[in-house]
Amino acid sequence: MRKIIYRDGLFIDRDDEEKFILERLEKRSENILFIYGPKSSGKTNFIEYIVEEKLSKKRDRFYVNYINFRRYAIVNYSSFLNVYFFPIREENKPFLAKMSDKFKLVFDSLRGEVSLPEEGVNFAISLNLFEAMERNDLDQFKVIFEVLKKIKSTGRVPVLIIDEVQELKDIYMNGDIKKRYLLTEFFKFLVSLTKETHLAHIIVLTSSSLFIDEIYNNSNLAQTSEFFLFDHFNYEVIREWLEDEGFSLEEIDLVWEYLGGCPFNILNLLSNRDILPNFELKSYLHREAMLMRGKIDFTMVDLDKEERQDYFIELMKTIIENGFALRNSKNKLQTEVLNVVIDKDILFVRAETGEIIFNSQIMKKGAELYLNQIKR
Ligand SMILES: Nc1ncnc2c1ncn2[C@@H]1O[C@H](COP(=O)(O)OP(=O)(O)OP(=O)(O)O)[C@@H](O)[C@H]1O
Ligand SMILES: [Mg+2]
Repeated sequence: MRKIIYRDGLFIDRDDEEKFILERLEKRSENILFIYGPKSSGKTNFIEYIVEEKLSKKRDRFYVNYINFRRYAIVNYSSFLNVYFFPIREENKPFLAKMSDKFKLVFDSLRGEVSLPEEGVNFAISLNLFEAMERNDLDQFKVIFEVLKKIKSTGRVPVLIIDEVQELKDIYMNGDIKKRYLLTEFFKFLVSLTKETHLAHIIVLTSSSLFIDEIYNNSNLAQTSEFFLFDHFNYEVIREWLEDEGFSLEEIDLVWEYLGGCPFNILNLLSNRDILPNFELKSYLHREAMLMRGKIDFTMVDLDKEERQDYFIELMKTIIENGFALRNSKNKLQTEVLNVVIDKDILFVRAETGEIIFNSQIMKKGAELYLNQIKR
């Protein structure tokens, strides 16, 4: 295990994952890469580390466009457009003047109206074109495609990274009589950038395992994608990390029993230990488990119907007894329950194997407390 300083804090190495990503970027882009994993396993932190610490040193080779849709309120098609495009309005004209040399592209008919992005996220674009996109008279994906082609022709490989892509769910394309979903069109576009034209690398991240489960079972997308499970840390890493923090082996085993390898939970433990004057490990861990028990109890309210609540209880029992339960997408009741409890970070589905497990070790502990309590 290596400890790296990143953003003025501690970053525990993710060497295997890093090697996987960097090697992949060296090859021709063939498919979309979906990175998924339990809540708070460190997906976003990892990809931002790769962008800021690794890819930024290879600017001459890669053009990186990173967007985290959790940082925007995507309420309709226009708000999506606003993420990728920056319309130059009257008040931005001074900016336009400064940028003029960068507006020498992009494709003949639009020459002078779309900028080649240097660094950041937005493609600056004339208000005319932006409005045409809003009306859906101009295909925004065609514009992005042409921009990326231009970038590629300058010898840099475009890398599009999209975090929390499930935020685009349920948004329709503007002015489309066929009422197509934005996300469907977006994915079609991403397939064209990878499998069809090999123009760009696409890395898609999501914190929703149910969303990945849907994609995995959508044969069109599954064929054109690769899935990478970004899991919590293993025992060895946690042991080394906590040894460095002065924990005894006995304490480490207790922490592992309660928190497993979730970096978020471990960081919380460390900051509580440093802040609380009368910190006591056992009672801290028990309290954390009680909090999760409470979360499960509350979720029963959201499950609403008794049939669903009972199913959820049986599901938890199976996972505790067998280590996992099996996903069965034909089982409507299961899907209804998973829709709620995955969203609440209680359960997690491993798309490739169809195993349903707890989202984290502490959640499993909370479930044990919950089940013991209702038995009485
Ligand atoms: N390698 C690491 N070393 C140290 N801390 C980490 C590491 N990875 C993640 N963390 C910390 O764990 C927390 C959760 O990380 P992050 O938000 O990246 O998880 P995530 O998998 O993207 O979560 P979500 O499922 O909500 O999207 C953050 O506070 C982050 O700083
Ligand atoms: Mg994240």
